[in-house]
Amino acid sequence: MSDDESYCLTDIYPIEQTIEIYKYTFFDNINLKIKGQELQNVNTQPSTGLLPWPASSILANYISKYNQEFKDKNILELGSGVGIGALVASKYTDRVMITDGDDKIFDLLDENLQLNQELFRIKPIIKLLLWGENQTLQNFEFHSYDTIIGSDLIYVNDSIDPLFYTVDKLLSMNSESTFYLSFLDRKNHLPVIEKVSLKYKFNMISINLNDFIEKPISNSKMFKFTRM
Ligand SMILES: C[S@@+](CC[C@H](N)C(=O)[O-])C[C@H]1O[C@@H](n2cnc3c(N)ncnc32)[C@H](O)[C@@H]1O
Repeated sequence: MSDDESYCLTDIYPIEQTIEIYKYTFFDNINLKIKGQELQNVNTQPSTGLLPWPASSILANYISKYNQEFKDKNILELGSGVGIGALVASKYTDRVMITDGDDKIFDLLDENLQLNQELFRIKPIIKLLLWGENQTLQNFEFHSYDTIIGSDLIYVNDSIDPLFYTVDKLLSMNSESTFYLSFLDRKNHLPVIEKVSLKYKFNMISINLNDFIEKPISNSKMFKFTRM
């Protein structure tokens, strides 16, 4: 059956989107309950942000294990989806901003904040932010975040430059400010990431996943980027 035909069939018989409760345990006794859709078909999923992606656990494990790096920092998550990274970070600081370019996920994201509200003292703020130069970026204070986090934001090479453009605009100019990024390197994106991070004058530092994850998924990667 051609793609066109299968598209017509899913129009006539819409796929049921089941909501799951995913349970996670991270370091520092963090237990999360996350509402999200079951991954059914990447071609028909209405939004990639409506379910937790594997690299979010890598980021959450890192934040909870090395939590001193996040303590009292002004933190922004990009492409948060269901918000696992930001929720874990909210245990360590009162200043967490959660962003995504797709406002269809915001109701679910807010439910996930309510479900895990024992984690934070001050509820993280949710805001629309599309990567690259666009109107949504004007609603943020430039160079004001100590830490930017993101998981599974790398799956199309074309979105890597807009992603780093946004990080460059929002991350503080302080030499300690850091962008933490975990992802599954599905299509050998590393050469593009290296080139783009250099263009925006970031050091790209590889993080050894074996230091905090028992059996890292193959092709999973995590880097931190600091200003040169
Ligand atoms: C694969 S999902 C990952 C979600 C979440 N970080 C996780 O790991 O579970 C990618 C997320 O990035 C967001 N996104 C993709 N392209 C974007 C863009 N150009 N600007 C802002 N957000 C974007 C999507 O809406 C989605 O929530």
